[in-house]
Amino acid sequence: MRIVVVGSGGREHALLWKLKQSALAPRLFALPGNPGMADCAELCSSGIGVDELVTRIREIGPDLVIVGPEQPLADGLTERAEALGIRCFGPTSGAARLESSKVFAKRLMKANGVPTAPFEIFDDFYALSDFVRENPRAEGRVLKADGLAAGKGAFVCSSDDEVLEIAHQLLVDHELGKAGSQVVLEEKLAGREASLHFLCDGTNFVALPPAQDYKRAFDSDLGPNTGGMGTYCPAPHADAKVFESAERAIVRPVLTAMAELGCPYRGVLYVGIMLTDKGAQVIEFNCRFGDPETQVMLPCMSFDLIDAVVACTDGGLAHEKFSSEPACSSVCVVLSAEGYPGSYQKHIPLHEADLNSNQILFSAGTTLSDGQWVSNGGRVLNAVGTGATVAEARANAYELAARIAVPGLRFRTDIALEAAS
Ligand code: AMP
Ligand code: GLY
Repeated sequence: MRIVVVGSGGREHALLWKLKQSALAPRLFALPGNPGMADCAELCSSGIGVDELVTRIREIGPDLVIVGPEQPLADGLTERAEALGIRCFGPTSGAARLESSKVFAKRLMKANGVPTAPFEIFDDFYALSDFVRENPRAEGRVLKADGLAAGKGAFVCSSDDEVLEIAHQLLVDHELGKAGSQVVLEEKLAGREASLHFLCDGTNFVALPPAQDYKRAFDSDLGPNTGGMGTYCPAPHADAKVFESAERAIVRPVLTAMAELGCPYRGVLYVGIMLTDKGAQVIEFNCRFGDPETQVMLPCMSFDLIDAVVACTDGGLAHEKFSSEPACSSVCVVLSAEGYPGSYQKHIPLHEADLNSNQILFSAGTTLSDGQWVSNGGRVLNAVGTGATVAEARANAYELAARIAVPGLRFRTDIALEAAS
């Protein structure tokens, strides 16, 4: 069986690592991947545009394509692969609107009674500023660009003046281009966040163990938002009660609504929730696996990923076949370039490391330069530890992080600390 994984980061390395363990012994291709994944897959150079990806996929002739990032999904890679008769795990562009348009997602939630922060939609700065002046709000608001903005489209504002400043940047100065030409203005929610992932076949779904992401750059959740500086799994606060309500009030109605719209949702649905005093509320949907959530969820997954993915693409995903119970605990510490998420240095020389049986090194933003393995992104390496408990997993992850850290790389020191005592 030939499987192509589209993407080049730590999430895709984790997918390949898990696929490699399958009893089906697949031949794996990374499109384009990065040199740190060469132990798992054949690297196939490619541009990231959908036309180039489709050309390369046609040449490789896989039985299955698994898409990591959101952009190719939003651009229609799934329907293009399916038109070639190739199974593709990931929603079509119509279904991927749950992530690629915040306006679409919020309207769908409202129409179907899915719990989420109250909101308004604007494409005109003056209409937005009239609304804000007429409805002052001291508790804070969040302003979100409608379209994909590489994680830079959500602004948590502590005052209405800040809202107006950012709305001006988006709607008048067009700082995010077309992605920000329409915005969602919503109430700021208070509570703990958790990342829930559901494998979906259009009708049925299976939950993966819950992960906790650390989005801020520095310890104690200080500093700017990032793509994620670390994760652990399972997250104890997302307990059975939370899953029961998320499945009943969020996932089930969303899958039904998408099917009714003629866009059945097949792939992984990432539901970012806030656990508020009114219960779980949706912060965001993503149409793909989280990064770095995948790096901790897959080591905890007790079933064969290929079986589950094929059940999603072909239909008939059977709940009883795929247990949501984690097989172990896992912690991921992201080593990032100093300065990330602002400007940072590239070409930092990296080195391999010996791993014990409870350590995994995933390669994220890396490349080869004159034969030397070097960094070429903000999030460079992922040190993952597993164990019977979060404390054990954490000790393994940090032991590895300390050994692979080189000058120019840094990491948070408090990932999973709360769950490790
Ligand atoms: P998003 O791009 O929608 O995932 O938002 C990015 C981050 O902004 C989330 O992970 C939250 O930390 C924060 N955020 C988004 N929406 C809200 C909200 N309504 N209330 C509080 N924080 C939010
Ligand atoms: N770690 C957050 C995300 O993948 O969107």
